[in-house]
Amino acid sequence: LQLEEVKIPLFYGWFLMSPANEKVKCSAIDFVKTLDTLEAFKKHSADFTGKAEKEVDLEQHFKAKASLHCTTKFSNYGKAEGAKEYAQNLVVKDHFGSVSELSLIAFFVTPRTVGARVSLTKEQLQLWPVDAESSVPGATGLPHGSRAHVTLACAAGVEAVQTGLDLLDILALQKDGQQGELVEMELGSLSYYGEGRWMLALREPICASACFSSSYK
Ligand code: A2P
Repeated sequence: LQLEEVKIPLFYGWFLMSPANEKVKCSAIDFVKTLDTLEAFKKHSADFTGKAEKEVDLEQHFKAKASLHCTTKFSNYGKAEGAKEYAQNLVVKDHFGSVSELSLIAFFVTPRTVGARVSLTKEQLQLWPVDAESSVPGATGLPHGSRAHVTLACAAGVEAVQTGLDLLDILALQKDGQQGELVEMELGSLSYYGEGRWMLALREPICASACFSSSYK
């Protein structure tokens, strides 16, 4: 095999292993179901439906992802900026195939996406592209690794890339000091940031074993 023949993948990331994949999916479904029953959420259901008084069935609204991962680098088979550099990075090569624990610290929901925020360790941050946040307008001041997330579900017609953008949007609001309405839940505290944006900061982070690898689709 010639080195030239080695193709750059669609994306790199941590792929949740079994049973963590199922555990996270179940927790997410539980959260979304509970959110749907809250008076605080129903009060703002027009954010999702566009109509006052009309309730939203979140389970119908979203299509859940089957196999979960936290994307590090979207390489687009080498077409994305910095794809080649990332593929050749020694830290990336050294960690390829390694298993580590992802710490999920929050769930968030917007009319477009459902995701889990991931808190990366120092070692995991070495695999995080330098421009993951700075390439997004409005997210420039946020710390390296802020965008780390697992896409759990998307609304019809919404691409997965939206989940990280929705997360950065909420984090930028938090940084501006917007606290939002607070609802205490068993899992943690839930905040509303307007325009259908909700975030549940988990009391206990969810730990998920994941393998650093890549996908060609
Ligand atoms: P995410 O990491 O938010 O889930 P797709 O399924 O659309 O082909 O994308 C494959 C994976 O790469 C998804 O997990 C997706 O989003 C991520 N992704 C797609 N496009 C981008 C992009 N432009 N920047 C960063 N991540 C992307």
